[in-house]
Amino acid sequence: METTGFQFANNTPLSLSPNFILPEENRPILSEVFSSASIPTIDLNNHDIDDLVSKISQACEKFGFFQIINHGVPKELCQRVLAVVTEFFQLPPEERAQFLTTDHSKRVKVFNYYQKVEGQGKVLMWGETFTHPWHPTEDFTHFLPKSPPQYRAIFTEYAREIGALMDKLLSLMSQGLGLEKDCLKRKIGERPAIYTQANYYPPCPDPELTMGLQAHNDISALVVLLQMEGVSGLQVVIDGKWVAVEPVPDAFVVNIADQIEVLSNGRYKSVLHRAVSNKRLARLSLPMFYAPNNDTVIGPIEDLIDEVHPPMYRNYSYKEYMDEFYRQEGARRRVKEAFQLQH
Ligand code: OGA
Ligand code: NI
Repeated sequence: METTGFQFANNTPLSLSPNFILPEENRPILSEVFSSASIPTIDLNNHDIDDLVSKISQACEKFGFFQIINHGVPKELCQRVLAVVTEFFQLPPEERAQFLTTDHSKRVKVFNYYQKVEGQGKVLMWGETFTHPWHPTEDFTHFLPKSPPQYRAIFTEYAREIGALMDKLLSLMSQGLGLEKDCLKRKIGERPAIYTQANYYPPCPDPELTMGLQAHNDISALVVLLQMEGVSGLQVVIDGKWVAVEPVPDAFVVNIADQIEVLSNGRYKSVLHRAVSNKRLARLSLPMFYAPNNDTVIGPIEDLIDEVHPPMYRNYSYKEYMDEFYRQEGARRRVKEAFQLQH
């Protein structure tokens, strides 16, 4: 039987069957990962608001990625959510199979990323992903797994905390652009699409032959990612080089995704990133995405356009953006480029 990615998270030693092996030019070259640069870590418990706004806005302009500490989300809740999601991935595959689908319209699903490689077909990434919405809580809770039994309760509590944190970040980012505090939140819309995408990367016999998650830009607006301590894997591009985002204790990784890059007329950057696998340890990451809904029209905010700063993107509905994202499935996606204006 062909090994599918889905049989994965069973904790048995895994072998790297040919359907995971990337052609040489698509593999990560781990010896070239640059170790003397890193994304900034920002203390959110800073009462000098101007200073905080300026640190956040510089990080968004230069790196598109930063870590936050003293963010107010209880440590113990973060540990519980990581534990319960790990337990989900350790359920017998038959239990996870009820969520397995390649249908894009399904909002709660387990799937594997892949790359389409000429002459080789689909090459699976070394990871399994579980995605579901988490807001508004009352609309989605009953779609969540019944097992592990604490999943729903923990996730609901976690969602509330992350929702409040995202509001705070959006407000600081708006101020950093010289806009009203609620501007970005208003532009992303009254009914944002909010979902999580838990990524489980089992230990991999040879991390240089495969990829956990191929290089991509996040298409949503804003991402708050929780990762396990002590296991790295997330890498971002800084000055053209791949750099590891080492887990900082009790921190979240925050990144600007495409919609805020467009709204900010290119001032805040949605930066290329990827996840590589680990030889000895499994890794879990839990990004929470905040995105517009399909009907929302996105384009550069007018206050950020002038003669020196002409619009860098055209206006579009988020549905158009998603359609373009799905059209590029399996490729190294370049979605925002399709909406860029030339000057
Ligand atoms: C993602 C992502 C990185 C990671 O899910 O979009 O970039 O560390 N994940 O798993
Ligand atoms: Ni991402």
